[in-house]
Amino acid sequence: MSDSDDKYPTESGRRRFVKGVVGGAALAGVGAAGSATVNSATTSPGAGGGPTQAYAIENTAGPAPRGMPLIPVEIDSEGYLKGVWPDVQTETQNGVEIEVAETDNFRGSGVAYSSEWFQYCGVQSYPQLAPSAEADNFFRSDSGAYTWQQETYSAGDKLHVDDFSDYREWGNGIGDPGIGKPATGTWRSQDSEDTMPIQVIKSPVVEQKAPEVGGFFEAATQEGFLAWLNKCTHFCCVPGWKQSADAAKFGNANHVYCQCHQSLYDPFTVVQTLFTALPRPDE
Ligand code: FES
Repeated sequence: MSDSDDKYPTESGRRRFVKGVVGGAALAGVGAAGSATVNSATTSPGAGGGPTQAYAIENTAGPAPRGMPLIPVEIDSEGYLKGVWPDVQTETQNGVEIEVAETDNFRGSGVAYSSEWFQYCGVQSYPQLAPSAEADNFFRSDSGAYTWQQETYSAGDKLHVDDFSDYREWGNGIGDPGIGKPATGTWRSQDSEDTMPIQVIKSPVVEQKAPEVGGFFEAATQEGFLAWLNKCTHFCCVPGWKQSADAAKFGNANHVYCQCHQSLYDPFTVVQTLFTALPRPDE
């Protein structure tokens, strides 16, 4: 996937967002030309960013350039679901020391899991994406895209494994029943005006495939739970799994569907993607 396939919408005129985009263009230029000078008074490269290999649920149709990045799942001692934030460390990039959040060899998968996976669609500018930001890693319900979720949680409640116990039977009339139970929510967004939307599913398909496939798929899932940053890589809409019957019209009712321009993603296939992560703002 070439860098130019990454498209971003014009949005909020917030200065920090604009800075991030300018920096991203500058870095993309470095990759294409082999060398370039990106420092100037007006085009800050920001911190981090650049060519990044992420693991993602596969994009199968539509204009999205790549899959949406996985958020590795962990379950705390009380059964609440959390997303793993990578280890914070200091690195030297272009002669400058910067903080990064990256875990080498994540859970023995051989994959370096990095917060750069989430640096697109303006998320790179969110304060909670700073490597050492004090943020809540629990997956918390939003207002809920599913009836069961609306009946079980209020917005802000932590998602709990017990509420997914009927995942082998659950269905809502969209796609096949019995392939998993979903919830929508947020991550690291408790005290921020910027929301990182997530989708979580607990699925017997994930339970079966994770040990077969191994690698990051197995490392990032726990007890059949799989989660991803739910920002479409096309123009940053929030897609949904089993939320629209239109998914079937455009390819597969069992795939994650983006209603904006009909991109589809397969939540049961995890692939490696290469893209240019946008730099975080230089605060
Ligand atoms: S397909 Fe365009 S934003 Fe998702």
